[in-house]
Amino acid sequence: MMGMFSGFLKLMLLYGMFLGLAQGKVHYREFVLKEANFTRLCETKSMLVVNDSFPGPVIRVTKGDTVYVNVQNQGNYGLTIHWHGVHQPRNSWSDGPEYITQCPIEPKSNFTYEIIFSDEEGTLWWHAHSDWTRHSVHGAIVILPKEETGYPFLQPDGEEILVFGSWYKGDVNKEVNEDLETGNVTPQSNAYTINGQPGDLCPCSNESTYRWQVEHGKTYLLRLVSAVMNVEIYFAIAQHNLTVVGMSGSYVKPILTDVVMISPGQTMDVLVTANQPLGRYYMAARQYDSIRQGVKNYDKENVTAILEYKGNYTPSVSPSFPNNLPTYADFNPAIEFMKRIRSLANKDHPINVPQNITTRMYVTASENNVLVDLGGENVTALASSLNNISWVNPTTDVLLAYYRNISGIYTADFPDNPPSFFNFTEDDSPDDTTLSVQGTKVRMLNYNEEVEIVFQGTNLLDVSMDHPMHLHGYSFYVIGSGYGVFDIETDPKGYNFDDPPKLNTVTLPKNGWVAIRFKASNPGVWLWHCHYERHLSWGMSSVFIVKNGGTPETSIREPPPYLPPCKDSFTSRLLQYENSDGNRLNKID
Ligand code: C2O
Ligand code: CU
Repeated sequence: MMGMFSGFLKLMLLYGMFLGLAQGKVHYREFVLKEANFTRLCETKSMLVVNDSFPGPVIRVTKGDTVYVNVQNQGNYGLTIHWHGVHQPRNSWSDGPEYITQCPIEPKSNFTYEIIFSDEEGTLWWHAHSDWTRHSVHGAIVILPKEETGYPFLQPDGEEILVFGSWYKGDVNKEVNEDLETGNVTPQSNAYTINGQPGDLCPCSNESTYRWQVEHGKTYLLRLVSAVMNVEIYFAIAQHNLTVVGMSGSYVKPILTDVVMISPGQTMDVLVTANQPLGRYYMAARQYDSIRQGVKNYDKENVTAILEYKGNYTPSVSPSFPNNLPTYADFNPAIEFMKRIRSLANKDHPINVPQNITTRMYVTASENNVLVDLGGENVTALASSLNNISWVNPTTDVLLAYYRNISGIYTADFPDNPPSFFNFTEDDSPDDTTLSVQGTKVRMLNYNEEVEIVFQGTNLLDVSMDHPMHLHGYSFYVIGSGYGVFDIETDPKGYNFDDPPKLNTVTLPKNGWVAIRFKASNPGVWLWHCHYERHLSWGMSSVFIVKNGGTPETSIREPPPYLPPCKDSFTSRLLQYENSDGNRLNKID
């Protein structure tokens, strides 16, 4: 009798251990959002941050863990938080983008996110997904491999996180709102930051330059996060090589390089060996300007931090600067770097590229105009679009409208192709192609549908640049990219099915195309957009609604007991203008 009982107990214990292993640990965190004062570039200003820190706190987990983050908003305006690159299986409810999966967490209220980690491993990040608030509300997410598997490279001796950011002297949200109302250019940052600091080369900054101390002979895992708002950047460390081993929370074949290019939204895991003479070395980043038209109005200060060897030596007056750091207008290092990104694609880290494509989309990404009624006068305002649709946020979030069958919030007619075909990358494109249509148009997908999207950059208004395209809820395989207009006959012949990288944010090259594939196995409501904040504000986004698969395990989860209520408000998005001829769903008075 006793024996049987203890046998049963053992079984239960084993079962519990198994469950524990399968589900990982559960963590609880408090994120308190409050205004705090920060002094940079000789000026002090107040801005909204999490737990008084800029960048915000790091979330550290092991693969497969779950984190509950209780967000308490003690600030002055509503916001939401997104867990960038976390796939959140069946759990759009905690994905975060405002008016897509939830309404803002208003001041004096709180909301608890349930962040479910599944196959991600490496570095990701979290950020506000309302207005331009993410410039001050963001932080890194570190996902360690399970103990029994470890890293697919030698265990590093230590690690370090570098978060790149944009610094604005002014009140960003206020300026953006004004610019969007008047159709103007949006604010440009005054400096870039590494872990919150602009570094020695910027005014009033050298006392607080970020320092990283290393020991000679050791190898470190450097986790890079680009929280920069509107530009891509180059990064290098003077006299030190970088070996990129991961991106977007997946491993890649090691890339040995002296410089990386990182887009807003992207994360990278990089090995650095401290093998140079004892001393101090600059780690520096600067803008990579894919627009290349009169760069002079762009924020292009160098941001620096210092890699400093421990030990006894007399440091030189000034650390050495990475002279290999490309200049703003240097295309080639970016192109060369992107070409080298490959999945590990081995037994322990296999790939699984969809081969039976059931949904094919060709999506143009453009800068364009919409017509605005400014005090009775018709003027054009800056906008951006996907397949000529400029997304407009609804007043109730898409997820709730979908889940509760509320009509009139969105339409399910996002097109699979642009309205017309012309030479998308030529100069002086036809005038009638430059006006976009506003709408809240989503694309429905059946469960397990295999999707291919070819994104096509355009040169409308003679403005072309890279666009970092990001998909929520999924990582996708990047099977090809190139310059000029995508050729449906010849370009697919060059697709990489052997070791395409698995990313959540990919650079659509200036005047070029990029092809991605994913399997729609995560039911829910998932935003996709350009990760340049100004393009997101101007409407370069859309939404996939992935339907349920017919069983509880293939269906979206139940909503949490409390969701922030939706008020009728629009913030920092292109407004629905009176005379845009899109589907008018929302009226602004
Ligand atoms: Cu980094 Cu829509 O997010
Ligand atoms: Cu863009």
